Parts: sequence; C-alpha cells; structure tokens
Amino acid sequence: MTKPLPSSDPAALLAAVLQANEGTANPRLKQVMAAVIRHLHALAVEVDLTPDELQVALDFLVAVGQATGPRKHEGILLADILGLATLVQLRSARHALEAGGTEPALVGPFWRANQPVRANGSTICDPATPGPRLRVTGRVTDLQGTPLAGARVETWQASPQGMYENQDPEQVSMNLRGRLETDAEGRFSFVSVRPAGYPVPIDGPCGALLAAQRRKVMRPAHLHFIAAAEGYKVLATQFFDIEDPNAFEDVVFGAVGSLLRRFEPDGEGGFTLHVELKLERGETRLPHCPLP
Ligand code: BEZ
Ligand code: FE
Repeated sequence: MTKPLPSSDPAALLAAVLQANEGTANPRLKQVMAAVIRHLHALAVEVDLTPDELQVALDFLVAVGQATGPRKHEGILLADILGLATLVQLRSARHALEAGGTEPALVGPFWRANQPVRANGSTICDPATPGPRLRVTGRVTDLQGTPLAGARVETWQASPQGMYENQDPEQVSMNLRGRLETDAEGRFSFVSVRPAGYPVPIDGPCGALLAAQRRKVMRPAHLHFIAAAEGYKVLATQFFDIEDPNAFEDVVFGAVGSLLRRFEPDGEGGFTLHVELKLERGETRLPHCPLP
C-alpha cells in the first residue's frame, strides 16, 4: 500500500513526484523530466510561488502557444529572450570551440524553407532594395582548415530598414535570402546590402514580458548562416556589425566575441565581410526550420 503524503513536507512531495517519473521508458526523457521536476519544485520553494502566480505562468505558456503559427514561433522567441537558445547552442558546440571551430549563434524564428538557390558571386537582393552594398565572401572548412567543397550554405538577413522580407510589404518574396554551394576550395560569395538592427517581435506575450522586465528589445545588425556538409555537424551562426549601437546589448544574447565584426569599407561606398565557417565532424542534421 502507498503511504499517504505528509501534507506539509516539500521534500517528501518532491520524492513522490520523482518516484512517479521512475517508470518512464525512454531513459533520456526520464532524466530530463526528473531535472524539470527538481528545478520547478526548487523554484516554487525559492520564490514562495502563490497559486495565483502559478496560474499567471500557465496562462503565459498558453499565450505563447496561441501566438505561434506558420508565420511566427513565439516559443522560439521565448527560448531566445531567456538566453536558453544561446546557452544550448554554445554547449552543444563546446568541443568544436575548444578545437577552433566557429562560434555558433541561435537560428532564430526567421529562417525559411526553400530559400532560393543563388550562384556564387550573384546578388541575393532585389535591385530595388536601397542601401549600401555589402559583398560577402566565405569559406567552409573542417577544424583543421581543409576546405569542404559542395557544402550547403544558407543565409538570410534583414534589410537596411531592419525588416525581414516576410515582415515587409515593400520587399519582394525571398529578398535577402539565399542558398549557395561551396566551390572546390570551399568558397562561396554573394552581394547584398548592409543590414540594420531590428527589434524582436513584441506583439505577443514575449513582448509583454520584455516590457515588464524593462528590457531593450533590439538585436544588433547581423547576417545569419547555416553551413551543412556531409559527415560534419551543421553550424548555425550569425555575424554582427560591431559598429551597431546595440552590438553589446543583443536582446537574445547571441552576439558573442568572435562573431562581432567590422564591415570593411570597400572605397566605393560599399562594404565587405569575410566569414570562415569551421565545422566539426559528426552527424549532419539541419535544425528545425521555423518558417515555410
Ligand atoms: C533573428 O536573428 O532573426 C532573431 C533571433 C531571435 C529573436 C528574433 C529574431
Ligand atoms: Fe536575424
């Protein structure tokens, strides 16, 4: 017969809930749920959570789900503004980082499936897009610097007005996005415009949380990259404009050390940026793509 719970003993309650988790068949789920249970119980005790506050938290999670759809993933935004996406990415790349791999950065909610295939050297922006040109060159290599030919490179960025094309009726579909392939020397290149920083979407519950925390909501200007080569772990990263006023205050904590770069003037009113994408050996699995 099961013993009744001592009503006022949090430790006994925690032990009972952990015991109820013990039958979980999937060992990883069992481990993760045990940690979730322990940390949630510790949190409730630490802040002396009230029933009303628990209800607010549950309603917040429901609102996050309701704000998520084919055009917007509020759940990704939540993980991003809590620094959780950055933490998980940095930890999953820690061995590569020790061996000189490129620092990763979160994918974010704006990568789109079926970005247009672009030839190396071509432009990824519609000619009507105003703003200074940015010529991007890059190389995909392994950790030893050996070039990886035929690697898939995905890139996307905001406009000089700080808008992704899917947020902006002024831009043509798939503007400032592209999918490229590295040449025999592992190189890729494209022409674009210099992006501007932008606020993360604040029209949902995450925006309300940021306002309650009186936080800044800007991301510094950046370009996103995903590099994928057979037999290597996929790298998702971003390179940031170090001259952006928010370069050191990224609301999602993605702008880390080596990813902050100077966009070099090209002497003709435009700029250049060179990026090296160094991949670690491992299983090739693309991240979840948030937008169709
Ligand atoms: C982005 O870089 O696209 C992004 C990341 C997190 C939240 C919003 C946007
Ligand atoms: Fe972005």
